[in-house]
Amino acid sequence: KKERHNMIFGLILAGGIGSRMGADMPKQYLEIGGKPIIVHTLEHFLEYENFEKIIVLCPKEWIGYTKDIIRDKCSENKATDIEIIAGGDSRNETIMNGIVYIEKNYGIDDETIIVTHDAARPFINKRILSENIEKAVKYGAVTTAVSAVDTILKCDDGIINDIPDRSNMYQCQTPQTFHAKQLKELYLKLTDKEREILTDASKILVLSGKKVAIVNGERTNIKITYKEDMIFAESILKSMIS
Ligand code: CTP
Repeated sequence: KKERHNMIFGLILAGGIGSRMGADMPKQYLEIGGKPIIVHTLEHFLEYENFEKIIVLCPKEWIGYTKDIIRDKCSENKATDIEIIAGGDSRNETIMNGIVYIEKNYGIDDETIIVTHDAARPFINKRILSENIEKAVKYGAVTTAVSAVDTILKCDDGIINDIPDRSNMYQCQTPQTFHAKQLKELYLKLTDKEREILTDASKILVLSGKKVAIVNGERTNIKITYKEDMIFAESILKSMIS
């Protein structure tokens, strides 16, 4: 049997309610191309064969529904590869729930890797997934990003106080890939205040002075956030099929 050094888990983050979308259900359950967004995302994870397990984290009251649509609509239904569990109150708490679940059921050590990904980004591809893992092994932690297209303005109360050089600016995407044990330990060390201002999991490492490397994302790896993103998503999907 081939020796495996790193146990790799996929964490699909679907614990949000999609308030900016304002639909009658969390946005990850809305359909594009006749299939729920979360199922598209999951199918890309299932295509990638190096995961020990793929853990889907969704709102507690949506667990049953999530199980049903995965069973009925996922074209690569390998149910044994997937676990569906409850997320947390914030995105980072959702990630922590995933780590605790892995810890309890599989054990974690210094080599255990988690690939965390927004359920609301259904256009993830194999290249991004494998570069995430390669670079996480090499550098410890990774985030996917694309260089900023627009100039970024830093403002206070609607007034510009800085215009950073665009060539250094990136826009963050997911996956973000971490060593599970390290991420949990650093997160637990943060104060409640520090945790509140975290919009992003890689900031847990940045606040602790750790290096996070970048993997080039894709302009099509959008996060479906607002209503109009559904139109963009439908056309990206069409361009990928044709
Ligand atoms: N997410 C999560 N757990 C939370 C909050 C968010 O797993 N407690 C997930 C979302 O389901 C989504 C991803 O993190 O796939 C990115 O978050 P975002 O786009 O902000 O999703 P929502 O929180 O659902 O949207 P909104 O902020 O508009 O309410």
